[in-house]
Amino acid sequence: MSRVIIVIGSPRAEGNSDILGRRLARGARDAGAEVEIVYAADLNIKHCTGCLRCNLVEKCVLRNDDWAAFAEKFTACDAAAFVTPIYFHWMTSHLKALIDRFRSLMRVQIRPDGLVHTPTSKMPRRCAYISVLGSPREDDALPVMRFFRYVTEMWRGEVVGEMIAAKLALRKQVGMSGEELAGMFAKMGLGADLAKSYHETYQDYLRRAYEMGRALAVD
Ligand SMILES: Cc1cc2nc3c(=O)[nH]c(=O)nc-3n(C[C@H](O)[C@H](O)[C@H](O)COP(=O)(O)O)c2cc1C
Repeated sequence: MSRVIIVIGSPRAEGNSDILGRRLARGARDAGAEVEIVYAADLNIKHCTGCLRCNLVEKCVLRNDDWAAFAEKFTACDAAAFVTPIYFHWMTSHLKALIDRFRSLMRVQIRPDGLVHTPTSKMPRRCAYISVLGSPREDDALPVMRFFRYVTEMWRGEVVGEMIAAKLALRKQVGMSGEELAGMFAKMGLGADLAKSYHETYQDYLRRAYEMGRALAVD
C-alpha cells in the first residue's frame, strides 16, 4: 500500500487549500493509499539558523521542535503533495519555515555551473503541488510552482500533478455551491453569470485535485 503525505500551508481552517488538500486525500484513499494530512501551521517548527552543521552531520541540529518527527514521517512516504496559498507571490511563512529545514536532508556540492543537491534520505518518488490564490490571473503563483518543480528534480522524483487554483479569495470559496456563490457575488455587486463561470472553474479544481490524489497513490 502506498503512503501519501499531504502538507497544507494555509493557517486558515476550512480554507481553500484545506478543501483542495482533503479532496486530494480522498482521491489517494479511494485509490488504496494510506494518507496523512499535515498542517504546517500546527507544527512547532523553529526557523533554520543557517548554521549549516547539517553539511557535516547530515541531520538538523536544532532540537525540541517537531522537525525530526515530521522528517521521519515524510521520508517514509512514497508520495507527497504540497498545497499552499500564495502570500505575496510566495508560499506562506508556515510552509517556508518547514521547507528550509529540508536543507538538512540534502548534501550540497558547489560546482562551477551551480549547486548540486543530493538527498541523504529516501524522498517520496511522486509529488504533486497546488497553489491557491485570490487573483484571477495565475502569475503570482508561478515562482512557487517553479520552486516545487525544482524540489522534485532535487529529490529525483516525478511530478504527477500540478495545479494553480486562481480566483479564490474568500474562505471556503472553492467548496461553495452555485447558489452560495451567486449570493456572495450579488453582495459584491458581481453578476450571476460570473458566479456561474467561477463555480464551474471550482468544480474543475476539485475534480483535478481528486485525480491528482489518485495519481499520487498509484505505483
Ligand atoms: C498575507 C496575504 C498575502 C496574499 N498575497 C496574495 C498574492 O500575492 N496574490 C494573490 O493572488 N492572492 C494573495 N492573497 C490571497 C490568498 O492567496 C487567498 O485568499 C487564498 O484563497 C488563501 O488560501 P486559503 O483559503 O487556503 O487560506 C494573499 C492573502 C494573504 C492573507
